[in-house]
This record gives sequence, structure tokens and C-alpha cells, in this order.
Amino acid sequence: MPSSIVSELAEIVGAAHVLTDPDTTARYTTDWTGRWHGRATAVVRPADTVEVARVLEVCHRAGVAVVPQGGNTGLVGGSIPMHGEIVLSVTRLDRIEDPDPVGHTLAAGAGVTVARAQDAAREAGLIFGIDLAARDSATLGGIVATNAGGVRVIKYGDTRAQLLGVEAVLSDGTVLTRWKALRKDNAGYHLPGLLAGSEGTLGVVTRVLMKLHVPPSHSYCALVGVRTVGAAPALVDLLRRAGLTIEAAELMTDAGMRLVRRHRALRAPLRIEPPYYLLVEVSGPADTEGLLLGALERASDLVLDATVDDERGRRLWSYRDSHTEAINAASSTPPVKLDITTPLAAVESFVDTLTHTLATEFPHARPILFGHIADGNVHVNLLDVEPGQALPVTGRVFELVAAHEGSISAEHGIGRSKAPWIHLARSAVDIEVMKAIRSGVDPTLTLNPHILPAR
Ligand code: FAD
Ligand code: LAC
Ligand code: ZN
Repeated sequence: MPSSIVSELAEIVGAAHVLTDPDTTARYTTDWTGRWHGRATAVVRPADTVEVARVLEVCHRAGVAVVPQGGNTGLVGGSIPMHGEIVLSVTRLDRIEDPDPVGHTLAAGAGVTVARAQDAAREAGLIFGIDLAARDSATLGGIVATNAGGVRVIKYGDTRAQLLGVEAVLSDGTVLTRWKALRKDNAGYHLPGLLAGSEGTLGVVTRVLMKLHVPPSHSYCALVGVRTVGAAPALVDLLRRAGLTIEAAELMTDAGMRLVRRHRALRAPLRIEPPYYLLVEVSGPADTEGLLLGALERASDLVLDATVDDERGRRLWSYRDSHTEAINAASSTPPVKLDITTPLAAVESFVDTLTHTLATEFPHARPILFGHIADGNVHVNLLDVEPGQALPVTGRVFELVAAHEGSISAEHGIGRSKAPWIHLARSAVDIEVMKAIRSGVDPTLTLNPHILPAR
């Protein structure tokens, strides 16, 4: 690595924004779960799109690889430099514009956090449609790059579905702008959609234009104890048929609930301790609460016990939101985090087979499952997995996913941790097309060269 590049970068962004001291760069070179530790020649923090473009131009010319980074909350190791790459942190691109009250859109820099975007939308009487427990750190550039999902996918779709426009800098410093606040615009390939989920391999996202939504006027939450995994989607179906809109539907287990309660010193939410919990948020007309209570009462064959809260209380949500944090704190080794999806009809069979397989083949791995159940999305977390067992157990879980016609990544992406298994998710032709797109846009593999299929 030519040391002159560090001074060239300092000339572009200012010396204060080129970090090289390992103590200062440590938080950019270790991932949120503590599984991935890397090494960066420097962390560069440009202030705007022009500086991002100049940084990439210099790195491209010098043949130096670049890892784009937002809030570093990704769960597949994609934001971590492994071999001395330059980390390009976009967190200073944090300008947020006033939401458009007519077109219901929000334009903001890639470094704006999800929480700030949510606040800006709320102040304008609207809703930002992505929500996840990492909201205070995860950035808009990051949610686009990972095509993040979260708890509102069931209502508003994933990030890609809500992305109207994007500005991104390509590997050689060229700025790509696809920026039209149009709901319909059918002229050629949908490049924002392609950048969504590209995990920092096709361009550095610098600015995004997202759809906003009108909030529901009446919404309620229920935490329901159920006996089986399948009871959760069955109950969601009944609530829909009762005329309610599902705002979120999250599955938790008894083991997960106990972990969270210990971690956060929370009281037991129900009078019983059921095997599974469904946290459901619904909206509808003025008598939403009555519709919800009536439907739960009629579903007495599915409901073991339930408690209801209005949506703003966040009391019930704290059990769900604390899962990832509690899991990280409780595991004696970095947790193995597998984010999978199966067809809805196969979720119960997948969970049962998984539980049995783990108990017999990997008895020391402690599973905590939870997830966005109405999307068929289960987060499989394995705690206390000895380092030598992480790969075999991952491979075994993915075999079960494939056998259930599922996907090895529902919403977190492929990154580093799932790269060896991409063939289970995509066909050979599919992978060749992805490589062709990538080499067309970034022929020198400057951007995040070590993740996703490259050559
Ligand atoms: P980073 O972690 O910094 O980067 C992630 C990837 O995107 C990397 O490959 C990186 O190179 C690339 N990237 C980042 N910024 C840019 C950019 N500007 N341009 C190009 N590439 C870029 N994810 C979900 O989908 N749903 C959830 O419900 C969810 N909940 C979570 C809860 C917790 C507690 C935590 C810690 C994580 C959770 N995540 C969830 C994962 C994570 O928050 C998301 O993947 C998020 O989108 C990452 O955003 P980030 O800004 O932190 O990106
Ligand atoms: C969640 C993350 C782990 O749903 O995707 O909390
Ligand atoms: Zn999730």
C-alpha cells in the first residue's frame, strides 16, 4: 500500500478525517457481533459526494480496495476490511431534507440514521417505512446497500420497495444519479433496485430518496402466547380476515423471552410461559381494539394467553427489540447468526426439524430463534458455538433451509459469513449474471472485493 495514498486522502477530506491509529480505527474494523476482526490501512470520512468521488478516484487509480461503511451494524461481516483496505465511512453525509408533504418522500444523505429519518417523517405527520432495532446507528446508505427488512416489511415492503431514487459513486469516482420523485418511471433497468442489496459492491450510496407513508389512525399491539410455530401465521390470517391491517408480526420463543427478561430485568408479560409468543401490531377503524379483542377471543384454540397494549406504549415491543442485544451479551462465543426464510407453510416443519437436528448433532449449540414470522423469516441464533463448530453447524442449518425450499438470507445479505453457501441460494447462471454486472460496473474490483461472487 503506497503510504502516499494516506496523504493524498488527507488532502481531500482533511487530516482529521483520515484515521490510521489502530485504537481509533478498531470500531470500524470489528463487526457488531464481534465475529469479524479486520485491518484497515485507513478509515476515511468524506463530508459530501464530491469528496467521496475524489476518494474513490484516488483509490481506483492506486489499485487500492475500498470497503464502504455506514453504521457498522451489519450482521454478515460485509462492512469489515480484512486485508488492509480503505474503509470509506459515510457517516458525515448526514444532511436530511424536509419531507415532501405532497409526494410523501424523504431525501437524505447516506449517513443519516434510520432513527433520524423516522423522526423527520414523524414531524411531518408521516411514517418512514423501515424500522429495526439498530435504528439509532444503522444508516440510510446501509439499509439500501443491504436491502434491509425489519419489522415493517409486512406493511411497507423492504428497503428496495421504498427506494425511489439514489445517488451513488461508482468505483472510478463517476457519480450516478437516478433521482426522480415519480411513483411511475419505467425507462429501462431499475438501477436503484439493483444498488439495493448490492452490499457495497456496485457503488457507494451517497444520497437516497425514499417513499414515506401515511400513519394509521388507530393501532394496537397484542402479545399472544401460542403452543406451536404454525399457530402464529394462522392467527395473523384470522386477524386479517377480521378486517385488521397487520403492521408487524413477530415470533419469539420461551428461551428467547427468558434471555431478554434476564438481560433487561423485565417482568413476565403473560400469566403463563408458553412455548412461543406472537407479538402482533394491527391497525384499522376506530374500534380496532374491539376487533382485535374479539378476534383473539374467537381464536381460543390458538391463543393460550394474551395481553394488549396501545402501540405508543412500546412496552410489549421492548421484549422483541432487545433480542439481538441480549443474545450477544449471553453467548460465550460470538453468536452464529443465520437469517433464513422459508415458504410460510414450511416454517413450522423447518423449526421442528432444526430443533431436533441441533439437539442430536450439535448438542452444545444453544439455539434462540425469533423473527418476522408473517414473512416466513426466522433468525436462527446459535450461542456458545465453539469456533471449530461454526462452519459445520452453519452448513447443516443451510442444508435444512434448502430442503425446505428456503433462502439462506432473508434480509441481512450474504456478506462474508454466507459467501461459501451462495450456491444454495442462486443457480450457476444466476451467479454468472451477477458477476457480469459487477465486472461491468467495477472491472477492477475496487469495491468490497471480498464479498459476494466476484470473478
Ligand atoms: P454497515 O453495517 O455499515 O454496512 C452493511 C453493508 O452495506 C456492508 O456490505 C457495507 O459495505 C455496505 N454499505 C454500508 N453503507 C454503504 C453505502 N453508503 N454505500 C454502499 N455500501 C454501503 N437488518 C434487517 O434487515 N432487519 C432487521 O430487523 C435488523 N435488525 C437489526 C438489529 C440489530 C440490533 C442489529 C445490530 C442489526 C440489525 N440488522 C437488521 C442488520 C443491520 O442493521 C442492517 O443490515 C443495516 O441495514 C446495516 O446498516 P449500516 O448503516 O449499519 O451498514
Ligand atoms: C432483527 C434482526 C436481527 O430482526 O434482523 O432483530
Ligand atoms: Zn430481522
